[in-house]
Amino acid sequence: MKPLPQSPLTKLAIIGAGSVGSTIAHSCIMRRLPVQILLNDIDQKRVEGEVLDLSDGTFLSNTTVTAAQPQEVGQCDIIVITAGAKQRPGESRAALIERNYQIMKSVLDGIKPIRSDAQLLVVANPVEILCHLAQKLSGLPHNQVFGSGTVLDSARLRVELADTLHVNEASIHCYVLGEHGDNQFVAWSAGHVGGTPLLGFDEMKNIDLAQKSQAVARKAYEIIDRKGSTYYGIGACVSLLVETVVCNTLRLLPISCYDPKFSTYVSTPAVLGARGVLRQVDLPLNQEESQAMDKAVASIKAITQKYH
Ligand code: 2OP
Repeated sequence: MKPLPQSPLTKLAIIGAGSVGSTIAHSCIMRRLPVQILLNDIDQKRVEGEVLDLSDGTFLSNTTVTAAQPQEVGQCDIIVITAGAKQRPGESRAALIERNYQIMKSVLDGIKPIRSDAQLLVVANPVEILCHLAQKLSGLPHNQVFGSGTVLDSARLRVELADTLHVNEASIHCYVLGEHGDNQFVAWSAGHVGGTPLLGFDEMKNIDLAQKSQAVARKAYEIIDRKGSTYYGIGACVSLLVETVVCNTLRLLPISCYDPKFSTYVSTPAVLGARGVLRQVDLPLNQEESQAMDKAVASIKAITQKYH
């Protein structure tokens, strides 16, 4: 019997075969995403090793994984950028900007020409600032350049709230917004569980909200202090973003995207689909949260303006 014609798989490039890039690839394989992964890194031997290791898990999946040269990366449908320096213990994400801007610049130069309909998914930190700069350097439209933003921080928060409320996190809608960094904040006032205001639940009455927000913001520092880097959480989150684009599931997620209101990239809820960022959804924030958003925006802008 003749084999059925294969539908062309989405080409997903991952730049950076360190622990974050490789874990994203592994998460995509475990989610059985219909993608062809092209892994790229300046360390060719590392890529070869990761491809050999990752391909051992593809028997569970439709996903394939191969090594790729920079020119092939520019012709992919989705290009995930993880290449960059990682935080040292106690170091903030913002402190990575100079090193990671130089890396981003050389990565984008190396993969040019970039397909005009490609989507750039920035994961390297500081993510909002690097999204802003990647959009300028690539010349791609704003809706095709976005970042993992505060999806991971929001996941950290929702897992804790699920534990407190004994409700599955899929039913808990509460976002960390602003910046995937020290200026992040929780939009507590807009949080809800199946339409019921989150702060109305009895279990929330005994929670110190400031302490909870701080614990979420500090979680990466805690992990880095103990094991040097974080990668499982971001791997899970980025594979969800890839699925949302590839399967056009139109999920609302707190990604880093361009907000015309602020003329910069910021982490804010937006609907993601096959054509990238489709729309932003402004949450009703209280005064304190609006001020926190303004503070995050001011901090992002103060740094981005030094680079153009
Ligand atoms: C994280 O939050 C370090 O940005 C990375 O896990």
